[in-house]
Amino acid sequence: MTAPKMTASKMTDSMPPESPAHVPVLRDTVLRWLAPRSGGRYVDGTFGRGGHTKAILEAAPGARVLGLDKDPEAAPAAAALAAGEPRFRFLAGDFSELGSALDRVGWDLVDGILLDLGLSSPQLETPERGFSLRHDGPLDMRFDPGSGETAAELLDRLEEREIADLLFGMGERRSRAIAWRIVGRRPLRTTGDLRAAVIAAVGPRRGRIDPATRTFLAVRSAVNREPQVLAAALHEAPGRLRREGVLAVISYHSGEDRPVKHAFRRLAEEPRFELGTRRPIRPDEDESGANRRSRSACLRILRRIEDAPGEIVRPDGDGR
Ligand SMILES: C[S@@+](CC[C@H](N)C(=O)[O-])C[C@H]1O[C@@H](n2cnc3c(N)ncnc32)[C@H](O)[C@@H]1O
Repeated sequence: MTAPKMTASKMTDSMPPESPAHVPVLRDTVLRWLAPRSGGRYVDGTFGRGGHTKAILEAAPGARVLGLDKDPEAAPAAAALAAGEPRFRFLAGDFSELGSALDRVGWDLVDGILLDLGLSSPQLETPERGFSLRHDGPLDMRFDPGSGETAAELLDRLEEREIADLLFGMGERRSRAIAWRIVGRRPLRTTGDLRAAVIAAVGPRRGRIDPATRTFLAVRSAVNREPQVLAAALHEAPGRLRREGVLAVISYHSGEDRPVKHAFRRLAEEPRFELGTRRPIRPDEDESGANRRSRSACLRILRRIEDAPGEIVRPDGDGR
């Protein structure tokens, strides 16, 4: 197995806090690829605080955006935007259910879909959400705190071997030792408890990356069923693109990027699709200097180049 590659920027939050506002990553590059046009319909599957959505709406006066996010904390920003912007609509929900969201708003095919995976800055910086390595908080880690198992409940329920497998899958070489410590210290209740269990197993930080980084990422990924959710979205989204439509996915570690790369390469073997670029697009030095969380970002693009069966592309772009 290839261990997910990680860079210090995304993988540790032990850096001084940035502004709680979320700075949209690769914003201008995403815009160049989506090339929003008047009359176009776009889906921002990870609305967050709406940075990318606003950029799309500003870029094309007649463009419309459907925003999705499963975190209830995204809703106020979405409501504020929707109040003054009739071209924007928000649905609380999972991007793996993209198809039913599109059906709900009556959109069949769309011109662009963006998935900006991972955490927003406010999620990471709010200790109560339980994502932070730096601040102690309840061991939660759910994108939607209203549903599903918390990280604490998951780690209480799993067997030691299952925990080790989870960590190993995220490239944690000391997975067995960490799993043994976790089980020995159950019940873990806080992020501090989890971090302390990891440090008891592997020792204190030696490099720039916190020793609990991969463990936190593995647990977060399991709590939110991130691989399954991403796989469902990658299955659904390409078929909802109109001709010239673009699917853009920003990932932040190779465990996220790998399935995107493989899915896009498979699809690009079909005559209907092509890759935007062979290699992932990374932030330039200016962006990674200004926004540390952007440093591990990796953007991949898939474009539809043939009409969907029965697709009518009208000059006003209003074909369904
Ligand atoms: C990196 S942030 C997006 C930031 C956004 N692009 C912006 O500029 O404000 C990722 C967002 O995706 C949301 N999210 C994660 N998994 C999701 C899922 N399966 N379905 C819907 N939203 C999800 C998170 O709650 C978070 O708000």
